[in-house]
Amino acid sequence: MLKLSSLAAAAAIAVASVAVHAGEVEVLHWWTSGGEAKSAGELKKIMQSKGHTWKDFAVAGGGGDAAMTVLKSRVVSGNPPAAAQIKGPAIQEWAAEGVLANLDSVAKAEKWDSLLPKVVADVMKYKGNYVAVPVNVHRVNWVWANPDVLKKAGVAGMPKNYDEFFAAADKIKAAGLIPVAHGGQNWQDFTTLESVVLGVGGAKFYTDAFVKLDAKALGSDTMKKSFETFRRIKSYTDPASPGRDWNLATAMVMQGKAGFQFMGDWAKGDFIAAGKVPGKDFLCAAAPGTANAFTFNVDSFAMFKLKSNDAQKAQNDLAAAIMGPEFQEVFNLNKGSIPVRLGMKMDKFDDCAKMSAKDFVETAKTGGLVPSIAHGMAVRPAISGAMQDVASQFWNDDKMTVADAMKKMTAAAATK
Ligand code: BGC
Repeated sequence: MLKLSSLAAAAAIAVASVAVHAGEVEVLHWWTSGGEAKSAGELKKIMQSKGHTWKDFAVAGGGGDAAMTVLKSRVVSGNPPAAAQIKGPAIQEWAAEGVLANLDSVAKAEKWDSLLPKVVADVMKYKGNYVAVPVNVHRVNWVWANPDVLKKAGVAGMPKNYDEFFAAADKIKAAGLIPVAHGGQNWQDFTTLESVVLGVGGAKFYTDAFVKLDAKALGSDTMKKSFETFRRIKSYTDPASPGRDWNLATAMVMQGKAGFQFMGDWAKGDFIAAGKVPGKDFLCAAAPGTANAFTFNVDSFAMFKLKSNDAQKAQNDLAAAIMGPEFQEVFNLNKGSIPVRLGMKMDKFDDCAKMSAKDFVETAKTGGLVPSIAHGMAVRPAISGAMQDVASQFWNDDKMTVADAMKKMTAAAATK
């Protein structure tokens, strides 16, 4: 009896102490597919276990273009969420508006400087102060495949270059199946184009064209060949692809309707959420010609300035949880990405993730590690947005010449 009542008292104190600091965190993100939603759910669980209230602010739309439009209107109307999925150079733009919170106290207490690769930490800081917290490292230059489709079509293995890729695609077509599952949305078109440019031109060329925005590279024969290759890939997609969401394209590969998909490793999150086993039910490989390169895409949350102390405490708890080893493991196991926190054990991760972790380290040494332009890592959003539009115009209009596309891409890259 005594024991029970003291337990009850202890529980009451615990509840009260949680309640004192409990705050609400409204979190804007675009994680709505099977694997993405499971991953976001892990973050919600951690925050709830700390006594906070999670207010989900999910804006559907792969790649996050729709989410960013909604975010702008919320901030402009003076009502920002506590945290928003903001990445790459966009973090700097938001910070320059003076709307982001300073996370240095939590970053110091949790030793982020020693737990993050410097290139990543630099992106999270504005004028030397942390304003965002990184979640993961996605690799974008992947191709996914259904092994049964390859077998049926008589394709021996994953294609290492575009000659092998197109030979495989022809065989899949001849077997009556769709060679390439594609979702015709601007960001997916651009995701494919960036992998093609990397595969055709290599990491140095990719950097010149898509990071340095060098007009000579954008007007070169290598760029010409990249656009031609990109257009040829389109001829292996199905007529129903325009407008399709990326996860529905992934489902076509899962169901054996299509052979390949070009997509970042959030696709693996969806394969896994559907109970599929890597190496058995689906295959992963670097996109053709890109085995020695790695287009990185680091998801991160920027925190907005909020007035209430409880809300700030909840924000700091969110930031600390995101960088914590427990979250880094469980989130990334579900998301298809690898932990961004250094020194994490990879033993629970599958072979695709292990390959990604190994390649991340190795390409960083050889110059093969490059920022994804299609996922907001390489250049300011105004520029990548304009370039993405050109990629899609070309993809959608078979009459547009390669020369025209190159001219338009060079002009888009010069966007002020
Ligand atoms: C994000 C991923 C997300 C993907 C599809 C990417 O830009 O970095 O986290 O899963 O878009 O929505």
